[in-house]
Amino acid sequence: MPGTPQGDLVRLVDVTPSDADLLDSLHATQAGGFNDLGQDRRRLPPEAWVDGRLRREERGEFFVERRADRRIVGTISYHAVSYGPNPKSKAWMIGIDLVPEGRGQGLGTEAQRLLADWLFQTTEVNRVEASTDVDNSAETRSLEKAGFRREGVNRGAQFRAGAYHDLVLFARLRSDPDEGGG
Ligand SMILES: CC(C)(COP(=O)(O)OP(=O)(O)OC[C@H]1O[C@@H](n2cnc3c(N)ncnc32)[C@H](O)[C@@H]1OP(=O)(O)O)[C@@H](O)C(=O)NCCC(=O)NCCS
Repeated sequence: MPGTPQGDLVRLVDVTPSDADLLDSLHATQAGGFNDLGQDRRRLPPEAWVDGRLRREERGEFFVERRADRRIVGTISYHAVSYGPNPKSKAWMIGIDLVPEGRGQGLGTEAQRLLADWLFQTTEVNRVEASTDVDNSAETRSLEKAGFRREGVNRGAQFRAGAYHDLVLFARLRSDPDEGGG
Protein backbone atom coordinates (compact mmCIF):
# COMPACT_ATOMS: atom_id res chain seq x y z
CA MET A 1 0.00 0.00 0.00
CA PRO A 2 1.99 3.02 -1.14
CA GLY A 3 1.66 6.59 0.17
CA THR A 4 -0.81 7.97 2.66
CA PRO A 5 -3.87 10.12 2.00
CA GLN A 6 -3.96 13.88 2.32
CA GLY A 7 -6.90 16.27 2.15
CA ASP A 8 -7.48 19.99 2.65
CA LEU A 9 -7.59 19.74 6.45
CA VAL A 10 -5.78 16.58 7.45
CA ARG A 11 -3.06 14.20 6.44
CA LEU A 12 -2.99 10.57 7.51
CA VAL A 13 0.48 9.71 8.75
CA ASP A 14 2.05 6.32 9.30
CA VAL A 15 2.75 5.34 12.90
CA THR A 16 6.34 4.17 13.42
CA PRO A 17 7.91 2.37 16.40
CA SER A 18 9.42 5.65 17.62
CA ASP A 19 5.85 7.02 17.96
CA ALA A 20 4.87 4.45 20.57
CA ASP A 21 4.70 7.00 23.42
CA LEU A 22 2.54 9.37 21.38
CA LEU A 23 0.27 6.51 20.37
CA ASP A 24 -0.09 5.46 24.01
CA SER A 25 -0.91 9.02 25.08
CA LEU A 26 -3.57 9.34 22.37
CA HIS A 27 -5.13 6.03 23.31
CA ALA A 28 -5.19 7.18 26.94
CA THR A 29 -7.43 10.12 25.99
CA GLN A 30 -10.09 7.60 24.92
CA ALA A 31 -10.77 6.73 28.57
CA GLY A 32 -14.46 6.95 29.39
CA GLY A 33 -15.42 7.70 25.78
CA PHE A 34 -17.19 5.74 23.07
CA ASN A 35 -13.94 3.96 22.18
CA ASP A 36 -13.12 2.83 25.74
CA LEU A 37 -13.95 -0.87 25.65
CA GLY A 38 -11.62 -1.83 28.46
CA GLN A 39 -9.13 -3.13 25.92
CA ASP A 40 -5.50 -3.83 26.73
CA ARG A 41 -3.61 -0.59 26.08
CA ARG A 42 -0.12 -1.92 26.68
CA ARG A 43 2.60 -1.57 24.07
CA LEU A 44 2.00 -3.17 20.70
CA PRO A 45 3.67 -6.54 20.09
CA PRO A 46 6.52 -6.72 17.54
CA GLU A 47 4.28 -8.47 15.02
CA ALA A 48 2.03 -5.39 14.85
CA TRP A 49 4.67 -3.67 12.71
CA VAL A 50 5.32 -4.27 9.03
CA ASP A 51 8.30 -2.46 7.55
CA GLY A 52 8.19 -0.07 10.53
CA ARG A 53 4.55 0.89 10.01
CA LEU A 54 1.27 -0.21 11.55
CA ARG A 55 0.07 -1.85 8.35
CA ARG A 56 -0.57 -5.53 8.72
CA GLU A 57 -2.50 -7.54 6.19
CA GLU A 58 -5.71 -7.44 8.21
CA ARG A 59 -5.42 -4.16 10.12
CA GLY A 60 -3.67 -0.84 10.17
CA GLU A 61 -3.61 2.51 11.92
CA PHE A 62 -2.62 6.08 11.05
CA PHE A 63 -2.21 9.29 12.95
CA VAL A 64 -4.54 12.12 11.94
CA GLU A 65 -2.40 15.22 11.45
CA ARG A 66 -4.09 18.63 11.34
CA ARG A 67 -2.47 20.34 8.38
CA ALA A 68 -2.90 23.88 9.74
CA ASP A 69 -0.38 23.36 12.53
CA ARG A 70 0.92 19.84 11.81
CA ARG A 71 -0.37 18.65 15.17
CA ILE A 72 -1.30 15.00 15.59
CA VAL A 73 -4.90 15.19 16.78
CA GLY A 74 -5.90 11.55 16.84
CA THR A 75 -5.82 8.12 15.32
CA ILE A 76 -7.80 6.35 12.62
CA SER A 77 -7.69 2.62 12.01
CA TYR A 78 -9.08 -0.14 9.83
CA HIS A 79 -9.45 -3.88 10.22
CA ALA A 80 -10.83 -6.65 8.09
CA VAL A 81 -14.28 -8.09 8.66
CA SER A 82 -15.66 -11.01 6.72
CA TYR A 83 -19.09 -11.78 5.32
CA GLY A 84 -18.09 -15.19 3.99
CA PRO A 85 -15.13 -17.52 3.52
CA ASN A 86 -14.23 -16.25 0.05
CA PRO A 87 -11.77 -13.34 -0.26
CA LYS A 88 -14.26 -11.16 -2.16
CA SER A 89 -16.55 -11.14 0.91
CA LYS A 90 -13.98 -9.24 2.94
CA ALA A 91 -14.76 -5.66 3.98
CA TRP A 92 -12.96 -3.05 6.05
CA MET A 93 -14.29 -1.67 9.34
CA ILE A 94 -12.84 1.71 10.24
CA GLY A 95 -12.58 3.47 13.61
CA ILE A 96 -11.48 6.95 14.67
CA ASP A 97 -10.68 8.85 17.83
CA LEU A 98 -9.71 12.53 17.96
CA VAL A 99 -8.47 14.32 21.08
CA PRO A 100 -11.00 16.86 22.39
CA GLU A 101 -8.97 19.79 20.94
CA GLY A 102 -9.23 18.22 17.49
CA ARG A 103 -12.99 17.77 17.39
CA GLY A 104 -15.67 19.91 15.79
CA GLN A 105 -13.45 21.31 13.01
CA GLY A 106 -14.34 18.93 10.21
CA LEU A 107 -11.14 16.94 10.69
CA GLY A 108 -12.80 13.65 11.58
CA THR A 109 -15.17 13.85 8.64
CA GLU A 110 -12.37 14.46 6.17
CA ALA A 111 -10.17 11.76 7.74
CA GLN A 112 -12.92 9.14 7.45
CA ARG A 113 -13.67 10.10 3.85
CA LEU A 114 -9.96 9.97 2.98
CA LEU A 115 -9.41 6.59 4.61
CA ALA A 116 -12.40 5.03 2.83
CA ASP A 117 -11.25 6.48 -0.52
CA TRP A 118 -7.74 5.16 0.07
CA LEU A 119 -8.96 1.68 1.01
CA PHE A 120 -11.00 1.51 -2.19
CA GLN A 121 -8.00 2.71 -4.20
CA THR A 122 -5.40 0.41 -2.69
CA THR A 123 -7.41 -2.78 -2.01
CA GLU A 124 -10.12 -4.69 -3.82
CA VAL A 125 -12.90 -4.59 -1.23
CA ASN A 126 -16.42 -3.67 -2.23
CA ARG A 127 -17.38 -2.28 1.16
CA VAL A 128 -15.97 -0.03 3.91
CA GLU A 129 -18.04 0.15 7.06
CA ALA A 130 -18.15 1.93 10.39
CA SER A 131 -20.21 1.32 13.48
CA THR A 132 -20.93 3.58 16.41
CA ASP A 133 -23.14 3.91 19.45
CA VAL A 134 -26.67 5.03 18.56
CA ASP A 135 -26.12 7.97 20.94
CA ASN A 136 -22.91 9.17 19.28
CA SER A 137 -24.45 12.03 17.31
CA ALA A 138 -21.09 13.52 16.30
CA GLU A 139 -19.92 10.29 14.69
CA THR A 140 -23.23 9.47 13.00
CA ARG A 141 -23.33 12.94 11.47
CA SER A 142 -19.65 12.79 10.57
CA LEU A 143 -20.08 9.46 8.76
CA GLU A 144 -23.07 10.78 6.80
CA LYS A 145 -21.01 13.79 5.75
CA ALA A 146 -18.14 11.47 4.79
CA GLY A 147 -20.39 9.66 2.31
CA PHE A 148 -21.38 6.64 4.42
CA ARG A 149 -24.96 5.41 4.40
CA ARG A 150 -26.87 4.37 7.49
CA GLU A 151 -27.83 0.70 7.18
CA GLY A 152 -29.40 -0.30 10.46
CA VAL A 153 -29.01 -1.00 14.15
CA ASN A 154 -27.16 -3.92 15.71
CA ARG A 155 -29.00 -4.30 18.99
CA GLY A 156 -27.04 -4.95 22.17
CA ALA A 157 -23.87 -5.48 20.14
CA GLN A 158 -21.23 -3.74 22.21
CA PHE A 159 -20.40 -4.18 25.88
CA ARG A 160 -19.08 -0.91 27.24
CA ALA A 161 -19.09 0.76 30.66
CA GLY A 162 -20.84 -2.18 32.28
CA ALA A 163 -23.73 -2.56 29.84
CA TYR A 164 -24.63 -3.66 26.32
CA HIS A 165 -25.19 -0.87 23.81
CA ASP A 166 -26.96 -0.67 20.45
CA LEU A 167 -24.71 0.24 17.52
CA VAL A 168 -25.70 1.88 14.27
CA LEU A 169 -23.97 0.49 11.19
CA PHE A 170 -22.87 2.69 8.29
CA ALA A 171 -21.16 1.68 5.05
CA ARG A 172 -19.85 2.97 1.76
CA LEU A 173 -19.82 0.71 -1.28
CA ARG A 174 -17.30 1.08 -4.07
CA SER A 175 -20.20 1.82 -6.45
CA ASP A 176 -21.87 4.44 -4.26
CA PRO A 177 -22.07 7.89 -5.83
CA ASP A 178 -19.97 10.51 -4.08
CA GLU A 179 -22.23 11.82 -1.34
CA GLY A 180 -22.12 13.64 1.97
CA GLY A 181 -20.26 16.75 0.96
CA GLY A 182 -18.20 16.79 4.17
C1 LIG B 1 -16.74 11.52 16.21
C2 LIG B 1 -15.60 12.31 15.59
C3 LIG B 1 -14.69 11.37 14.81
C4 LIG B 1 -16.21 13.33 14.61
O1 LIG B 1 -15.18 14.07 14.02
P1 LIG B 1 -15.18 15.67 14.14
O2 LIG B 1 -14.02 16.15 13.40
O3 LIG B 1 -15.27 16.06 15.57
O4 LIG B 1 -16.55 16.01 13.45
P2 LIG B 1 -16.82 17.23 12.48
O5 LIG B 1 -16.22 18.47 13.01
O6 LIG B 1 -16.43 16.80 11.10
O7 LIG B 1 -18.39 17.35 12.60
C5 LIG B 1 -19.23 16.43 11.97
C6 LIG B 1 -20.66 16.76 12.28
O8 LIG B 1 -20.96 16.33 13.61
C7 LIG B 1 -21.57 17.39 14.31
N1 LIG B 1 -21.19 17.29 15.70
C8 LIG B 1 -19.96 17.49 16.21
N2 LIG B 1 -20.00 17.29 17.55
C9 LIG B 1 -21.27 16.98 17.84
C10 LIG B 1 -21.94 16.67 19.05
N3 LIG B 1 -21.29 16.62 20.21
N4 LIG B 1 -23.26 16.39 19.00
C11 LIG B 1 -23.92 16.41 17.82
N5 LIG B 1 -23.34 16.69 16.64
C12 LIG B 1 -22.03 16.97 16.66
C13 LIG B 1 -21.05 18.64 13.66
O9 LIG B 1 -21.92 19.71 13.93
C14 LIG B 1 -20.98 18.24 12.22
O10 LIG B 1 -22.22 18.31 11.59
P3 LIG B 1 -22.70 19.63 10.79
O11 LIG B 1 -21.63 19.95 9.82
O12 LIG B 1 -23.98 19.21 10.17
O13 LIG B 1 -22.83 20.72 11.80
C15 LIG B 1 -14.75 13.04 16.68
O14 LIG B 1 -15.56 14.02 17.29
C16 LIG B 1 -14.19 12.11 17.73
O15 LIG B 1 -13.13 11.56 17.54
N6 LIG B 1 -14.91 11.95 18.86
C17 LIG B 1 -14.47 11.11 19.95
C18 LIG B 1 -14.30 9.64 19.61
C19 LIG B 1 -15.50 9.04 18.93
O16 LIG B 1 -16.64 9.21 19.30
N7 LIG B 1 -15.15 8.24 17.90
C20 LIG B 1 -16.10 7.46 17.16
C21 LIG B 1 -16.41 6.24 17.96
S1 LIG B 1 -17.08 4.95 16.96
